[in-house]
Amino acid sequence: RRLLAAAAAAGAGGLAAGAAGGAFVQESVRDEPAALATVGATRVPFHGVHQAGITTPLQAAGHLAAFDLTPGASPAATRREAAALLRRWSDTAARLTAGEPAAGHDTGIARDAGPSSLTVTFGFGRGLFDRTGLAARRPAALAPLPPFSADALDARRSDGDLWVQIGADDALVAYHALRALIRDAGQAAAVRWQVRGFNRTPGATARPRTARNLMGQVDGTNNPRPTDEDFAARIFVPAGGDPDWMAGGSYAVYRRIRMLLDRWEHLSPARQERVIGRRRSDGAPLSGGPDAQESTPVDLDGRLADGTLAIAGDAHVRVAAPESNGGAAMLRRPFSYDEGLRDDGAPDAGLLFVAWQADPARGFVPVQRKLDRGDGLSRFLSHEASALWAVPGGAAAGEYVGQRLLE
Ligand code: HEM
Repeated sequence: RRLLAAAAAAGAGGLAAGAAGGAFVQESVRDEPAALATVGATRVPFHGVHQAGITTPLQAAGHLAAFDLTPGASPAATRREAAALLRRWSDTAARLTAGEPAAGHDTGIARDAGPSSLTVTFGFGRGLFDRTGLAARRPAALAPLPPFSADALDARRSDGDLWVQIGADDALVAYHALRALIRDAGQAAAVRWQVRGFNRTPGATARPRTARNLMGQVDGTNNPRPTDEDFAARIFVPAGGDPDWMAGGSYAVYRRIRMLLDRWEHLSPARQERVIGRRRSDGAPLSGGPDAQESTPVDLDGRLADGTLAIAGDAHVRVAAPESNGGAAMLRRPFSYDEGLRDDGAPDAGLLFVAWQADPARGFVPVQRKLDRGDGLSRFLSHEASALWAVPGGAAAGEYVGQRLLE
């Protein structure tokens, strides 16, 4: 209120007083610091049954980074190094997500900021099990993803032994965490690839709704919800599941999917809507008529007055729907990315697609197989990197993530 009043006072003074008014706004903030906004003050606990960053609402900024373990004198030695690294990482993540500085030297990048909903999520790739002599304990669900016809994968930006997903509602807080975790890796592991992502900033819209992606679509509507009866069974490995050290964990499929935005933006709004099966303006399904809302259930059998299917045969929501895939479902929790222009002048931008499920063979794999064969959206996409991670359950206070496997 104080800021608004100051801004109004500056505005009332007209253009001539604008500069002085601006100075007044600055001064008043400096003299009497405003309370941390909700965005900065929000804290997501690091410890828990599940790791944070899976059901946490999308954050405005993020980083995905994969690391390869440095081979030690023996697999047992590499395993000890990996365990020590996960202990350091868990300690740093617990501190930073609480808004505290990292232990030892802190870069200061996040100084003055609150925790800003920071989450840090750790995952294990196939290679970790070979390097640490733990191949016998590798989950069957971590079998390599099958090849898909639309793949144009870059091995240097795919896979890895370890994965870190960072999300925060402030870009400096997110980068601070990335630097601290890379420092913790020390000689034990080296960055294999890293990529920066973003989403809408909380508070940017008057009417918060499901986020939009860089194609302008409302994206995430028909995600499983934590309130759904079968949510936990679909997304998390149950206690007593196989292997036991994955209890409370989940499997994350990562795909770096470039959007062919020049081609997409040439389509008329009506064609764009047909490709997805939902309205651009509000995400309502095309089967719902003019009064439909985003929450209106999709009717895959619905027809238009002329008898044609309201949701086209190759519409993305039809091909991806659990009804079309034997019930296969996953929790999609992506970031957008933008890495400037490619050599051919096209935007190097798209979706860092991250999908969570209890078993990729009953989530991502059947759906992507189906999309690969007949999805109207695939003409506008290029899958450029891929990875599959076993993401262990969360750590209790005093534990580190992955302890049940690595100790
Ligand atoms: C639904 C966009 C890739 C699986 C949707 C929707 C949009 C969308 C706009 C409708 C709203 C919603 O329910 O979220 C995109 C874009 C992609 C992409 C832009 C690539 C850049 C994928 C991939 C998969 C997938 C790779 C899985 C292999 C799904 C599923 C739904 C969905 C399961 C919900 C279908 C339903 O039950 O109605 N997607 N998608 N999508 N997408 Fe995608």
